[in-house]
Amino acid sequence: MNRKYRKTVIAGNWKMNMLSSQIKPFMEELKASLPKTRSCDVVLCTPAVMVPAMIKAGKDCKVATGAQDVSCFDKGAYTGEISAEQLADAGVKYCIVGHSERREYHGEDDMLVNAKAKALLANGVQPIICVGESLEQREMDLTMEYVTYQVKAALGGITAAQLRRCIIAYEPIWAIGTGRTATAQQAQEVCEEIRAVVRKMYGARPARAISILYGGSMNAKNAAELLAQPDIDGGLIGGASLKPADFAAIVAATAQE
Ligand code: PGA
Repeated sequence: MNRKYRKTVIAGNWKMNMLSSQIKPFMEELKASLPKTRSCDVVLCTPAVMVPAMIKAGKDCKVATGAQDVSCFDKGAYTGEISAEQLADAGVKYCIVGHSERREYHGEDDMLVNAKAKALLANGVQPIICVGESLEQREMDLTMEYVTYQVKAALGGITAAQLRRCIIAYEPIWAIGTGRTATAQQAQEVCEEIRAVVRKMYGARPARAISILYGGSMNAKNAAELLAQPDIDGGLIGGASLKPADFAAIVAATAQE
């Protein structure tokens, strides 16, 4: 982390878990466990139907609400889709795009991720853009090339002013939901490279200011070491965000200097 230049963000990704009726008790427990003074922004990305309930419950303990996906289209005949304008209208502040599960199960490619990020930015919602390599790519020593490509493609056509509202999450696919975390050094190496890519595209200042999160089996135990890395500005947390005490412990881990 480097709080002098950029925000620390802890974002939970509930994926397709939980029910609206569970939000109130969850948030009560979270509120009781969260540190009294906060060194980071806290976000919970819920399934879209739970957004209103989360916005209501989140106000009380300063937890912002995020979505997990968005349509790349503005409006119209796209059955089942939700537009960025609709998310903004509902009060959503952040939205994940390009999560590896969307890429893998829904065939999302880098151009679509780019279009979704732009749709969000046009409507004042902060995209959390996910990138990350597969195990095969890591073993073939393709991590840096692949992640560099993903970052360049996702940010294509995004202006420096818009970049200020973007967050990048590095999530090695082999570490997601597997209990197999990247070592702090592995995560730092890639996050540093992502910042270098942003520097080449936008210059030193924007690169210094962008928050880059790590995601992939981050938990209450390993969070402090990961967050101590200079280029890791927070976490995108799946499994551990479903347990209030664990999620709060990760938030507390951002208090280190
Ligand atoms: P995990 O998920 O923390 O359960 O590995 C992270 C993510 O998919 O964002």
